[in-house]
Amino acid sequence: MNAEPKTCSATTEADPVSETTTVPMWLITLALVLLFLGAWVFDLRGGWFEPKVYGPYTSVADAGRFQPPPPDGPDVKRGKVLFEQNCALCHGNDGMGKPNQAPPLAGSEWVLATGVNRLIRIPLVGLNGPIKVNGQDWNLQMAAMGAQYSDDQLSDLLSYIRSAWGNKASPVTPEQVKKVRDDLKGRSQAYTVDELMKLPE
Ligand code: HEC
Repeated sequence: MNAEPKTCSATTEADPVSETTTVPMWLITLALVLLFLGAWVFDLRGGWFEPKVYGPYTSVADAGRFQPPPPDGPDVKRGKVLFEQNCALCHGNDGMGKPNQAPPLAGSEWVLATGVNRLIRIPLVGLNGPIKVNGQDWNLQMAAMGAQYSDDQLSDLLSYIRSAWGNKASPVTPEQVKKVRDDLKGRSQAYTVDELMKLPE
């Protein structure tokens, strides 16, 4: 037998070489943009695993458990709304009053008085005639602007004006308002300063 040396045809062919193709630039850019947008939207609305966001509640009432409890005593936030609806027109949102319309409530000795017996009467029946506020003389008229409010509402409102704009005085309780209202015995005539000063503070 002619033992011819076998030639391995494979050796004559070049080994397969893997070609390198680069990932297209646009694909990398797209991936990065999507990643960025995803992270941005998650940051914006995801709530960051906050249990209050993903908490086990299914209704508004259920979620109410996570709300802070209503404050004890007068609610000055509600008082602010009432003030802005009914008093701010003359006394200003900033409590600074307006020339020839109404004296200021900010810093007013009538608002900041330790006792609130006189203060409560002003919105309930109004005030006429000369009055000194922060050392300035006024002589105007204020109608009963707060008579329609409940004891609770007036307590919120007066507590607000005693604590807003740098004012710092104790809140007015609904019981104090009720006591004055009872004491007025249905009076609707506006007070004068002279009359108010005869009453205990
Ligand atoms: C239509 C304008 C007007 C409105 C609205 C009004 N006031 Fe007055 N207020 C006056 C005027 C004018 C005086 C001064 C009366 C005077 O000269 O005797 C006054 C005086 C006062 C005073 C005593 C003086 C002072 O500046 O501290 C208080 C307190 C007061 N108002 C509270 C209120 C509250 C609370 C409300 C809302 C419930 C209210 N006012 C709404 C016009 C108004």
